[in-house]
Amino acid sequence: MNGPMGKLAGKVAIVTGAASGIGEAIAKLYLAEGACCVLADLPGSKLVEIFGGTGAARCVALDTTDDDAPGRLVGAAVEAFGGLDILVNNAGIAIACQFEELTDEQFDRIMAVNVRSYFRIARAAVPEIRKRGGGRIVNLGSIMSEMGGPTLSIYGASKHAVAGLSKGMAVDLGKYGITVNYLQPGSIWTGMSRPFMADENFRKYWENKAPMGRIGDPEDVAAAALFLASDEAKFVSGHGLHVDGGAIINF
Ligand SMILES: NC(=O)c1ccc[n+]([C@@H]2O[C@H](COP(=O)([O-])OP(=O)(O)OC[C@H]3O[C@@H](n4cnc5c(N)ncnc54)[C@H](O)[C@@H]3O)[C@@H](O)[C@H]2O)c1
Repeated sequence: MNGPMGKLAGKVAIVTGAASGIGEAIAKLYLAEGACCVLADLPGSKLVEIFGGTGAARCVALDTTDDDAPGRLVGAAVEAFGGLDILVNNAGIAIACQFEELTDEQFDRIMAVNVRSYFRIARAAVPEIRKRGGGRIVNLGSIMSEMGGPTLSIYGASKHAVAGLSKGMAVDLGKYGITVNYLQPGSIWTGMSRPFMADENFRKYWENKAPMGRIGDPEDVAAAALFLASDEAKFVSGHGLHVDGGAIINF
């Protein structure tokens, strides 16, 4: 499965939020499947510690909401690896807060990280992906792209926006051979979810809601991200893929 025989051999990918959780698992799997990867996370993250800074992984420290983040990411892919085939917009934040106490600043920050940066990075990536004759864009939605949850109204709004953005992009970019899909993880063990999981009731609720009877692992989501990035997924576009052990359909 490694190197030139991998499912992503010869491909160049950008993965944001790669220093933790789902993004880290996606980056590791893409590298194992032969992709060259530009990996981004916030300054001070463990990105270089995890992936090193040479060879098939190029680490970039930035905030995805920075004005110059799209140009820096796409520029790094072209400079280091000669082009771009796959973009995974994964970096995201969740702020848990009862609705009436949420602030304008929290609204703006969640939307900036979870939606606006996805739009801006994808817009910068499209011209390079087109030069390769097509490619893949995978955005991180959530089961909250189609449901609500306590204390997560703005987060849920941002993930609904990811669904709408992905569908519109899929329609506009199909003619270039670019598929656009979004992943809909359920409850997954990561840095983001750990504070929520500390609440035993929360953890048990999601373990029981998933017919598979457990919280998901980042690797479960990475496997789906590999499929959506692969050649085999060339006729799958505009799709939201649940990776939730069946939780969302279990009323
Ligand atoms: N964990 C879950 O249960 C779950 C469920 C559904 C969807 N998701 C989504 O999956 C994605 C990854 O989340 P995770 O659970 O792995 O979280 P995580 O906190 O473990 O990892 C997110 C990474 O993104 C980075 N990041 C955050 N904001 C950034 C920014 N502005 N610029 C650059 N990097 C930034 C963080 O530093 C971190 O390394 C998110 O979009 C999240 O909404 C997670």
